[in-house]
Amino acid sequence: MEALLLIIALLPGCLCAVTVSVPPKVEIEIGQEAILKCTPKFSGSPKYSIEWSLLDQEGSRVRIATYNDGSTSVDHGTDFTSRVAIRSDNSLVIKDVRVKDEGTFICRVTSASEGSGEGSTELKVYVTPAAPELTVNAQLLSITEVIASEVGTCISRNSYPAPTIEWYRNQEPLNAKNEKGTELYATSRTTTEASGLYTVSSTLFLKPQKEDVDAVFSCKAIFPLPGGHTSQMESKVFKLNLHYYTENVSFMSSPNDLIKEGDTVTLRCEGDGNPAPTYLMQKMKENAEGEELPSGSDGVYVFQNISRHNSGSYRCEALDFDSPEDVELVKHLNLFVHYLNPVTVIPGEEEVKRSLKEDVQLFCSCDGSEKPNLIWKKGNVVLSETSRYRLKDLSYSDSGVYTCEANVPSVPGLHKEQNITIVVEGPPELDMENHQVEVEAEGHPVTLSCKAKGNPVPKITWNQPDLKASESVSDLEVVSEVSFKFNSKTMNDISCSAENHLGMKKKEFVLSLYVAPSIAPAEEQKGGSSTAIIAVVVCVLLLLLVVALFYFLQKKGKLACGRSEKQPLAQDPASAELAVELKSEKRNDQRGLLGGGGGGTAAEC
Ligand SMILES: *[C@@H]1O[C@H](CO)[C@@H](O)[C@H](O)[C@H]1NC(C)=O
Ligand SMILES: *[C@@H]1O[C@H](CO)[C@@H](O)[C@H](O)[C@H]1NC(C)=O
Ligand SMILES: *[C@@H]1O[C@H](CO)[C@@H](O)[C@H](O)[C@H]1NC(C)=O
Repeated sequence: MEALLLIIALLPGCLCAVTVSVPPKVEIEIGQEAILKCTPKFSGSPKYSIEWSLLDQEGSRVRIATYNDGSTSVDHGTDFTSRVAIRSDNSLVIKDVRVKDEGTFICRVTSASEGSGEGSTELKVYVTPAAPELTVNAQLLSITEVIASEVGTCISRNSYPAPTIEWYRNQEPLNAKNEKGTELYATSRTTTEASGLYTVSSTLFLKPQKEDVDAVFSCKAIFPLPGGHTSQMESKVFKLNLHYYTENVSFMSSPNDLIKEGDTVTLRCEGDGNPAPTYLMQKMKENAEGEELPSGSDGVYVFQNISRHNSGSYRCEALDFDSPEDVELVKHLNLFVHYLNPVTVIPGEEEVKRSLKEDVQLFCSCDGSEKPNLIWKKGNVVLSETSRYRLKDLSYSDSGVYTCEANVPSVPGLHKEQNITIVVEGPPELDMENHQVEVEAEGHPVTLSCKAKGNPVPKITWNQPDLKASESVSDLEVVSEVSFKFNSKTMNDISCSAENHLGMKKKEFVLSLYVAPSIAPAEEQKGGSSTAIIAVVVCVLLLLLVVALFYFLQKKGKLACGRSEKQPLAQDPASAELAVELKSEKRNDQRGLLGGGGGGTAAEC
């Protein structure tokens, strides 16, 4: 009996030489095509049949498809009827895999000569969930609460197998336990949908700390993937809606330093309570109740165009009645506004008039919260890096706007300036060229021009009012021109004058008819007068000759006149008298000769 049993037990080993190898597990994502391999091994090469079946819930086999003698057939009435086939390599192909397809598949191979064998494989199906959905508890959470409060719920829908949900604070896992506690825990629930997919929800409870104010929370669904991998999907992040009292108050200005007049300055008072407290902002007054800043109750006060009067001490109080007594809710702040007074300039007038060649001394001064640097500029050119600038020997080009700038280097942008305009004035200067004009003939056109310079620009007038003048002014120069037809009877004396309040200049024109160098009858008169001049010159020369002769004779006949006149002067009065007589006589003679021409030269001897 025992031996028989042994033989039976050994039978498959010796007679059933068919071995069937199948992969132990096939993992597939939903909707894909699953291929379940089945590889029989025979000692010969016999004919065989294959039967693919599935273990149902109760553990009994349900046949799906078969192969026999070269043909395959699919069993009717199973979930797989329209989706499976047996391929030539004996594998079972399942199209469009569903969650419910998951299970144990058996490949049984039977050969008439070598018996049968089988192998089983597990089909595992995976479904990736949708992104986790988050519902946040909108209620204010208080840090004074003694037990953990509900913070939010995270739901991961429709995945297979079921995912796990984890909670994070600032991307760090919170590791919330599943048991109820006082500090931190999460409750979780898994439901199976009709589709066979799982929906998992997790609700987080925690006792918030003050540090949680800025923390961001999120949940992640972590789900398995084929091949032992996992993947995860994160929810949106959220912040806790925390309620806590004010512990710290800060009070600052922006900018916080080097404030100058005209700046926009914001005072900001901030308590760290939530909800934010209201504030009382005041400017402190000596020996008096502070003056409340209007509209400062939200903790912000803006000075548009701040002024020196806004310098001083400010106080801010956070009005949080939840705060414990020992919390300091009052802060002070000192504000200093730098300023410069207007620049004063000497000379004090906006416009200073000076004459050409004069000197002007410019001086400016300025003071403020800090001592400024002063400079003088004209346009962009720096003339002096001090408060003084001296203009010597003024010329017209010195006219213009001079600016004294005050800058405080330690307070960027603190700047004041004052302009002064210098006007260099001068009397008219008239160009005297071309005042003699020759005209070819009566009735010919003539143009006369008058060019004058001065400041103020001179006004040019012509003495003959019926002459039409055309005028052009450039810079400080004016040119006036008149044109007319020459008429010797009426146009003998033409003049222009240039005038401003500093003076007047006149230019007289001499107009004459041009004389050709031929002897025309009209020129006899002129020729006559020149012969007369020649005659006079000849007479004068003759007279001079006579004088020279007379002088020579006197020198030869008597003694040298220097001695004869001077020696007796010193010795005896009689001879001195004679000398005087001689001298006067001689003079008279000379006068007579020269016809009273006033020639004192000869008397020098
Ligand atoms: C608030 O005040 C507490 C105690 O005075 C201090 O420890 C903490 O650093 C302060 N927090 C801030 C943000 O200033
Ligand atoms: C700023 O205030 C000053 C007087 O304090 C005033 O002269 C100036 O015009 C103001 N500027 C602006 C831009 O309002
Ligand atoms: C001074 O004059 C300059 C140039 O003419 C001008 O740009 C500037 O605005 C003036 N400054 C004042 C204060 O009038």
